[in-house]
Amino acid sequence: MAVVAGQPRLIVRGGRRLSGAVAVSGAKNSALKLMVASLLAPGASVLRNVPDIQDVRTMQEVLEHLGAVVEFADGTMTVDTAEVQSHVAPYELVQRMRASIQIMGPLVARFGRARVAMPGGCNLGPRKIDIHLRGLADMGGTIRSDHGFVEVAADRLRAINMFLDYPSVGATENLLMAAVLAEGTTTLENAAREPEIVDLCKFLVSMGADIEGAGSSTLRINGVSEMHPAEHTVLGDRIEAGTFLIAGAVTGGDVEVTGISPHVLELFLFKLRSVGVQVQENTRSIKASGDPRSYGGVDVATLPYPGFATDLQAQMMVLLSIAKGVSVVTENVFENRFGFVDELIRLGAEIRVDGNHAVVSGGRSLTGAIVRCPDLRAGAALAIAGLAAEGCTELREVYHIDRGYEQFEQKLQALGADVERVGVGSGPCSSL
Ligand code: EPU
Repeated sequence: MAVVAGQPRLIVRGGRRLSGAVAVSGAKNSALKLMVASLLAPGASVLRNVPDIQDVRTMQEVLEHLGAVVEFADGTMTVDTAEVQSHVAPYELVQRMRASIQIMGPLVARFGRARVAMPGGCNLGPRKIDIHLRGLADMGGTIRSDHGFVEVAADRLRAINMFLDYPSVGATENLLMAAVLAEGTTTLENAAREPEIVDLCKFLVSMGADIEGAGSSTLRINGVSEMHPAEHTVLGDRIEAGTFLIAGAVTGGDVEVTGISPHVLELFLFKLRSVGVQVQENTRSIKASGDPRSYGGVDVATLPYPGFATDLQAQMMVLLSIAKGVSVVTENVFENRFGFVDELIRLGAEIRVDGNHAVVSGGRSLTGAIVRCPDLRAGAALAIAGLAAEGCTELREVYHIDRGYEQFEQKLQALGADVERVGVGSGPCSSL
């Protein structure tokens, strides 16, 4: 495997127990949508607890490309949309970050037009946008596609009653942001219920929107004629919290994550307990500890919230590789989210994939190896596997991790992990 010039790698030396507390950052999948929602009102909205991660920086570029003025320092972001001129998200940005398509709803709602490069396939599978487009078309939008772009235009969107084919997170958010300025009362049934959508609803309401049912599968949105800028603090990142809890558990450590309500991780915490991890819940923190020798396998099936989050599936697979017994992991959300399994096998895991099922034969002792990160969550999972492995693990293509985890290795180091980022050249794992 050749080292790509200029690409940093993570070197993880396993075998250390992680111990201590880690403060979770603001949720990536909320912050990105709140940034976009600020397009709905002219003027400057202020977001706090925004994570400084690559995807947020890319969304900043998207907004600046549209003409917004964005300032971002020490977790506080100001998005001033007074001078927004453009309605186009170019291919270069959408291809770097799919969530750029979320500008469609707010731009059509406020400016009557949005033109966005089609996202195409990605490493989690095809990831269609048909539900987004069907909703916008039903709201009176004219949809056209040419030259690899999709364009939506409407003088003023009108309210709809829509039953979503699937509780898509992105479609729910796009249609919600379109409906807040539409004429009449929109009802979205079978809507997604993720905590990040509740966070978005809170922000929209503080901007002047009228929304009922946040957190339920039926959202009722009474359209208003205008919105105003607002201030909001991004909720904690439940996926980051889950990632660090598993990192502690696989090392036989004792890790507390703070700045997160346990109720957003209910099923995940139930599964951790079923494995044999001791979990202590407090109002705004969660602690996990345990002895890997006593862990046993469990079956896990990913589902939309409040089901088991697909974004924690890869990390869970590492824990199940160590826990004794056979576990079956079923991925129901994305078509292609077992891409990291071959890498995990290189570290000594025994996993057989059949369609959307992975059969994990646990109780393995992992050993360090060179692996590549196929996507964001898989990258985090492989780092966790490295922490549990004997010897040195070298992670390549770690830019995936930087998309969604703020200060990833620094937070691990603070818990006692032996992990460092190195540049090109022969790394400390050169013996591999
Ligand atoms: N889908 C359709 N048609 C649509 C929309 C979605 O068929 O119009 C399908 C997708 O192809 C996919 C499934 O529905 O198979 C789920 O997609 P969804 O729209 O719910 O997800 P998303 O909005 O694209 C967000 C997160 C993901 C997270 C999923 C599920 C953001 C920026 N991304 O994606 O986060 O896995 O919800 O919870 O919010 C990550 O953070 O690593 C990540 C991938």
